[in-house]
Amino acid sequence: MRTGVFTTMQMKRLGSSGVKRGAKGSAARKKDDFFARMDAQGLALAYADVRLRTGHSETPPSEVIMESRFSRRVPLKVPIVSAAMDRVTEYKTAIELAKRGGLGIIHFGMSPEKQAAMVTRVKLYLNAIIEKPICVEEGDTIGSIEEMREEQGWGFHSFPVVDAKGILKGVITQSDFEFSMDAKRAAKEVMTKTPVTAPAGTDLKKAFDIMTKTKKKFLPLVDKSGKLSGVYVFSDVKRVLFGGSESAYYNVDKEGHLRVGAALGVGEGEIERAELLVERKADVLVIETAHGDTPRAIKVLKELKKNFPHVDVVVGNVSEGESAKRLTDAGADGVKVGQGPGSICTTRIVAGIGCPQVTAVHNCEKAVRGYDVPVCADGGIRYSGDIPVALGAGADSVMLGMMLAGTEEAPGKKVVVNGITYKDYRGMGSLGAMQASRAARERYRADSGKAAFFPEGVEGLIPYRGSIGSVLDQLTEGLRRGMGYVGAKTVNELQQKSDFHRLSGAGIEESHAHDVVITEEMPNYGTRRKDK
Ligand code: XMP
Repeated sequence: MRTGVFTTMQMKRLGSSGVKRGAKGSAARKKDDFFARMDAQGLALAYADVRLRTGHSETPPSEVIMESRFSRRVPLKVPIVSAAMDRVTEYKTAIELAKRGGLGIIHFGMSPEKQAAMVTRVKLYLNAIIEKPICVEEGDTIGSIEEMREEQGWGFHSFPVVDAKGILKGVITQSDFEFSMDAKRAAKEVMTKTPVTAPAGTDLKKAFDIMTKTKKKFLPLVDKSGKLSGVYVFSDVKRVLFGGSESAYYNVDKEGHLRVGAALGVGEGEIERAELLVERKADVLVIETAHGDTPRAIKVLKELKKNFPHVDVVVGNVSEGESAKRLTDAGADGVKVGQGPGSICTTRIVAGIGCPQVTAVHNCEKAVRGYDVPVCADGGIRYSGDIPVALGAGADSVMLGMMLAGTEEAPGKKVVVNGITYKDYRGMGSLGAMQASRAARERYRADSGKAAFFPEGVEGLIPYRGSIGSVLDQLTEGLRRGMGYVGAKTVNELQQKSDFHRLSGAGIEESHAHDVVITEEMPNYGTRRKDK
């Protein structure tokens, strides 16, 4: 019924299970030689150090296919994932990102209940037909229903009213809430008692016709005995029927709901948190810790895999091949790479560890090659052109913090300084984040008994960037262009064909705009260079 998972032709090409990283197998690749040569000199490389070599290309950017995977069973139409950070991903980011083919990972700096409610908000965003609608009873008061809405994170205001046997008695909608001045009034007093209904089994097109004819936005379906069997919501019906090219990008699960991931830590109570997240149908759990190659992280991974074998678990972060392999051997369905590349990270500076990100990604990918475990390059992306570089080095997806934290949908506050609008952004290992949440403290192991915090991140402001949609347009176009230049039609081909140039200082200088005073901010290149 729902459009947009894969077209039939794409499915044929990719095999029935969707995108395969498969052919990453054994063939020696030019980039392996490149990284081996660098390694022989003791050199590890960051994004700004390298660019992809161009190749003969029969692939115009418009024909590029960006599909990939975040984890074994969680596909992406666009290989972009948002960081599990308190200034980056809550439900609004996750919804917009999934609508654009990516995936949001809801951070865990909040109670398990609140995080689970956010998962629900994403999951319920798209609902052409709701087979098990949330119902209220005749005696429920307007106040108690509102309270429940808040608690559960339901973004909608229309409810069927049923009796104990599930027989439809009426409906209450947004205007019933708005015009009910007294929160103590019961549903039966304010509901529409003879709502427009349709028989159980009514299809989408028929539902659309009934709804347009009767001007009803909420259509309950009832069987012969009057029992409720589902509802249609007009905005979703319209979106599914006429969403056009936009809905073709929706990253949806088998039931047609947007996909969403949820983060958790390695502290006490995280298995209970996972239980709630799985119950709310989170598509993937992401173990977020600054050091993923520890007995504690591996123990939590194994427990999650034992308790929820049907749900993918991605683990991070690591930056060495051996660590990636250890997590894979322990059952990870995806590995997240990045220790210290992030815009707000200071780990490498204050702890003296870490590997520049392009080399880290390549080493980790090489170590798990052939295991069918996707690799996510987390942190350090500053320009759209860094995305093809990350994927070329071996990543299957990139995780973005800074690039998305400045968007309208990100949870940070807007701040105006000298007439310019910014949003606040902070590392999860920054003082502010650690003071605010146990999750951040756990992630950076700040609860180790010492009184003073040891921050591994900073707090700051980044320019406001407008909607996620407009940012994503630029980022995905950058990826398309990069793939087009390399001559790679798919992400897998990009991984296979990529080879790199190492840039000198002069090469980096030449690559950027130079010798001009930039007078106009481009949507993909600011007036101030990010490496200065
Ligand atoms: P970007 O560069 O996209 O990076 O802003 C986001 C990623 O950075 C990681 N992260 C941190 N790393 N200290 C760190 O060393 C921190 O305080 C911190 N906070 C987030 C995280 O992996 C995120 O996805």
